[in-house]
Amino acid sequence: MKIAIIGTGHVGGALGGRWARDGHEIIFGSRDPQGEKAQNLLRLVPGNVRVAGTTEAVSTAEVVLIATPWSATRDTLTRAGTTNLAGKIVIDAVNPIGPDGLLVGGNTSAAEQIASWAPGARLVKAFNSTGTGNMSNADYGGEKPSLFLCGDDAEAKKVVARLAAELDFDPVDCGPLSMARYLEPLAMLWVTLAYNRGFGPDIAFRLLKR
Ligand SMILES: NC(=O)c1ccc[n+]([C@@H]2O[C@H](COP(=O)([O-])OP(=O)(O)OC[C@H]3O[C@@H](n4cnc5c(N)ncnc54)[C@H](OP(=O)(O)O)[C@@H]3O)[C@@H](O)[C@H]2O)c1
Repeated sequence: MKIAIIGTGHVGGALGGRWARDGHEIIFGSRDPQGEKAQNLLRLVPGNVRVAGTTEAVSTAEVVLIATPWSATRDTLTRAGTTNLAGKIVIDAVNPIGPDGLLVGGNTSAAEQIASWAPGARLVKAFNSTGTGNMSNADYGGEKPSLFLCGDDAEAKKVVARLAAELDFDPVDCGPLSMARYLEPLAMLWVTLAYNRGFGPDIAFRLLKR
C-alpha cells in the first residue's frame, strides 16, 4: 500500500521502517523534507521510500499515519489539507500527553477531536498504547503483543488490523472511535510502567482469552 507517515520522529521512523521492509511504499511527510533529520531517516530506511512536504505526502497516499506531538496535531492536519484527508484511512497514533499526564480524556479523546478536525477521514486509533521498540520488533518469543485499535469504519479497521498483523501484533478491535477514551489512558499506563516503575520499554500488553 501507499502509506504516508506524517512525523519523522520515533513512531514515524519505527512504523515507516517496518512497513517499508514489508514492501509498502512509504512517503514520509515532514515540515522540513530537505532537513537533516528527514534526510537521515531516508538513509536509514531501505525500500520504496521518499520524503515530501506534508500536503504532498498525504495527497497521493491510501493510508495516512499521524505521528506528531498532540500540541502540533491540529496544525499538522491543517497543513495536510483536510480535503486531502477526506475518504482516506487515517491512523491516529497520537497521545495527548502533557507534563502532568493526559490533557484530554473523560467524556472525549484526542481521537474524537482529530475526527472533528478532519471530517470525512476514516480514522482508526492504533499503535498508541505500545512503544516504538515494539513497533520495530514485536517478537516476545512466540507470544504476540495485542495491538488495540478502535474506529467507526469497519473496513478501515480491517486494513489497519492487517498492517498491525504484518508487524507481528495481534490486532484487537475494541469498537467505535469513542473507545479511544480508554486506549489513550492505556498508553499512559504503558509509559508509566516503562519509565516510572522500572519495567523499561521492552514490555507489551496482551489480551488473554479462554
Ligand atoms: N514514542 C513512543 O513510544 C510513542 C508510542 C505510541 C504513541 N506515541 C505518540 O505518537 C506521537 C509521536 O511520538 P514520537 O515519539 O514519534 O514523537 P517525536 O519523536 O517527537 O516525533 C514527532 C514528529 O512530529 C513532527 N512534528 C510536526 N510538528 C511538530 C512540532 N510542532 N514539534 C515537534 N514535532 C513536530 C516532527 O517531524 P517533522 O520535523 O519531520 O515534521 C517530529 O519528528 C505522539 O503523539 C506520541 O504521544 C509515541
